[in-house]
Amino acid sequence: MPAVAFASQTMSKETLAIEREEDIVQVRKRARALAQARGFDAFACAALTTAASELARNVWVHGGGGEATLEELSDGTRFGIRLVFRDHGPGIADLERALRGGYSTARSLGLGLSGARRLVEDFEVDTRSGEGTCVTITKWTRF
Ligand SMILES: Nc1ncnc2c1ncn2[C@@H]1O[C@H](COP(=O)(O)OP(=O)(O)OP(=O)(O)O)[C@@H](O)[C@H]1O
Ligand SMILES: [Mg+2]
Repeated sequence: MPAVAFASQTMSKETLAIEREEDIVQVRKRARALAQARGFDAFACAALTTAASELARNVWVHGGGGEATLEELSDGTRFGIRLVFRDHGPGIADLERALRGGYSTARSLGLGLSGARRLVEDFEVDTRSGEGTCVTITKWTRF
């Protein structure tokens, strides 16, 4: 059967600034609240919350701050929460390596980006040297 692409419909959208370290907690809390309100199970809630926290932290630590957009959407059969993390930092120098995991330019574990990728269904990175990084993730649930 050929895959059928349904147009996704946005139901709500909000943007949170990541300008202070405390903002990471706000993004995490808001992502969890959206997932709980939409009936995601405990595992999916934890997955989205953890991914949100790691990506918001990357915006703060590596990107020098930025913003997170949280969007509720539906594709007709599924309900989704899409999170977009944007910064105007240096960009990810070696994306392939960063996605493999265990690589960090901050002497950390280097597991945030690769971990976030495994926790969601859709994961996209757009990064440009000297311009910044945009990471988009979506977690889906059945109605
Ligand atoms: N928004 C970003 N801007 C620039 N570089 C980034 C960004 N996000 C990730 N990186 C690069 O990718 C590497 C891997 O990211 P990842 O989150 O996996 O590890 P980390 O942040 O270094 O450590 P941690 O395990 O604590 O998250 C980072 O060390 C950094 O070099
Ligand atoms: Mg990280």
